[in-house]
Amino acid sequence: MAGRIPDNILEDILSRIDIAEVISGYIPLKRAGRNFKANCPFHHEKTPSFMVSPERQIYHCFGCGAGGNAFNFLMQYERLEFPEAIEILAKKSGVTLPEAAKQDNKVTGLITQLQKINELATLFYENNLQAPAGLAAKDYLLKRGITETTIKSFKLGFAADTWDSLVSYLRAKNISLSLLEKAGLIISRESGGYYDRFRNRIIFPIFDIKSRPIAFGARILAEKQGDMAKYVNSPETPVYTKGRNLYGLNFTKDCIRENDCAVIVEGYLDFIIPYQHGLGNIVASLGTALTVEQARLLKRYTQNVVMIFDPDAAGQTATLRTMDLFIEEGMNVKVVSLPKGFDPDLFVRKYGIDGLKEKISTAENIFVYQLGVLKARHNIKQPEGKKEIASVMLLMIKKIKNGILRSEYIKILAQEINVAEHYVLDEFNKIKEDKAQPVSPGQPDKKKMDINPTEKLLVKLMLEENQLIGRIRNCLEPADFQDERTSKIVSVMFDLLEQGKEVEPHKLINRLQDDVALQFICESAFSPDLSAENKDKIIDDCIKRLKTARLKGRRQHLHGQIQTAQRLGDEEALSRLIEEFHHLVKKEGNK
Ligand code: CTP
Ligand code: MN
Repeated sequence: MAGRIPDNILEDILSRIDIAEVISGYIPLKRAGRNFKANCPFHHEKTPSFMVSPERQIYHCFGCGAGGNAFNFLMQYERLEFPEAIEILAKKSGVTLPEAAKQDNKVTGLITQLQKINELATLFYENNLQAPAGLAAKDYLLKRGITETTIKSFKLGFAADTWDSLVSYLRAKNISLSLLEKAGLIISRESGGYYDRFRNRIIFPIFDIKSRPIAFGARILAEKQGDMAKYVNSPETPVYTKGRNLYGLNFTKDCIRENDCAVIVEGYLDFIIPYQHGLGNIVASLGTALTVEQARLLKRYTQNVVMIFDPDAAGQTATLRTMDLFIEEGMNVKVVSLPKGFDPDLFVRKYGIDGLKEKISTAENIFVYQLGVLKARHNIKQPEGKKEIASVMLLMIKKIKNGILRSEYIKILAQEINVAEHYVLDEFNKIKEDKAQPVSPGQPDKKKMDINPTEKLLVKLMLEENQLIGRIRNCLEPADFQDERTSKIVSVMFDLLEQGKEVEPHKLINRLQDDVALQFICESAFSPDLSAENKDKIIDDCIKRLKTARLKGRRQHLHGQIQTAQRLGDEEALSRLIEEFHHLVKKEGNK
C-alpha cells in the first residue's frame, strides 16, 4: 500500500518521529510504566485500554483492537489515506519525499480526488450565485441579512434549476461519473444516467477543520415550497461522516480556545448570522444528535459549552439527554433557551448580538436547568413527583466522572426534593454505570483473531527476540504457516532480516495490508513477554507441529486429487499422484 514510496523512506520517517509525541498532539497520554495509556479515541470507554509504546513505536487498544504505527494513527484519527499521512509525517520529520511519489499519490488517492471534486463543485456553485441565474438566490440571502463578505467567506453558492448542470460541468473536466457519485453530488436514475442531487437550492458547503469542503447542505429559496424538504444534504461519503464534524469549527476554533467556551447552535443560519455580527466562538450541529466524536473534537479547544436550544426542544428531557455525552466527557455544559418562536438567527435580528451574548453569559448549568424543567412537570411536594424527578436527575449525575461534582449535585438534589441525602445516595448507587451509558454509534468492531495458536506463538517469540528469526528461518519457510496472514508476517520478517534490518513492529506494519495481521502484531507487542524458561523446547515443538500440519495438509490435498483422478479414470495422473503420495508418507515417517 506504500504506493511508490519505498519502505526505506517510510522507515526513515518513522525513525525520526516519536509516536507518543504525535498521539499526544491529539489526546492526553498518561505514563503507565514503559508505556503510555489513554481513553481510546476510537471507541467509547471509561477506563483506558489504549496503549502507546514509545519503545516499539506502536499503539494498540485492547478494547476495540485499533492499532498500528504513527501512520495508522493519523489515518484513523484524521481519516486520512496512507499517502496523506506519509506526507504529514514526512514534513514533520524533515524527510523529503521523492517528487514522483508525490505526483503519483495526488492522482491515486480516492480521498484526494473527492476533495478536489468538492472544491470544484464549491467553486461552480459559488459562480452560479453571482451569475444572472443566481439572482433570486442571492436576493434571498441578502434579504436574510447575509452580507457579500459572509457569502464569500462561507463560499455560499447556488445550484441552478436544472437536472444536469453540475454533471455536465464536471464531466467536461473529465471526472468520472462513478467518482461524482461517490462524492454524493449526483444520483443514478433507475432508467440509466445520472442527475444532480442539488437543484434550485442555496448551497452551504460544509468544511472540515482544515477548511476543505467535504459535504453540502442545500436550502430551498423560500420559507415553504410545497412538500419539498427545506434542506437536502450530502450523504455520507469517504470524506464525510455526519457525526464527526461541527459546522463552522474551521472558522471559530481559535476564538473558542481563546474564550475557553463554545456556543452550540443547530442550523446554518443560526451559525452564520451571529458569527457575522461578531459572535466568534460558535459551532453548529446541523440539526442532528450530537456524538462522542463531536464532543471530543470540541474538547481539543475547550471544556466549556453553552447549548442554545430550540424553544420547543428545550423542555424535552430527550433533548437534554443528548448532552449526556458531553457531561460524560467531563465537559461543563450550560443551556440557553430562547423565547418561543425564536432561534439564534431571529433573536440576533430582533435583539442584536448583544442580546444574544447576554443570554449566553447568563446560561444556566444543565443540571439546574434540567431540574427546573422537571419541577415544572412534576409535583415536587408529592412522593411520586420526587421519585420521578430524582430518577431522571440521578441518571444525569451518574454521567459525571468527578466525585466532588457528583456528591455536590446529589446534595443539591436531595435538598430540592427535600429527602434525606442518604436515601438519594442509595438510589444513585443502584444505577449501574452501564445502564447510564448510551451506546456510542460507530464503535469499531474488534476483529476476530482466529489465528492458529502455534503460529501465533512463534510469531510472538520472533517479535520478542529478533535472533530467533534466523533460527526459525533455517527450519521453516513462510508457506509452513497455514494462515495466510501469519505466513505474510513471517515472510516480511524474513525479508527484513535479509536486508540486515531490525524486525520492529512499526516497520512490519508498513508492509502489511491485512487488518487482522496488523491487530495481531500490535496485540502481541503489548502482551507480556513469554518466560525465558524452556523457550528452546517450545520453539522446537512449534516447528515440529507446523511441519506435521503442513505435511498433513498436503497429504489430504493429494488424497483429494487422487480420488478425482480415479473418478475421471485419468490413469496417468493417478500413477503420478500415487507416487507423490508414497513419497510424502515416507518423508513423514522420517520425521
Ligand atoms: N435540517 C436538515 N433538513 C431539514 C431541516 C433541517 O438537514 N429538512 C438541518 C439543517 O442543517 C438546518 C438544521 O437542521 O440548518 C436546523 O434546522 P432549522 O432550524 O429548521 O433550519 P435553519 O438552519 O434555521 O434554516 P432557516 O432559518 O433558514 O429556516
Ligand atoms: Mn432558522
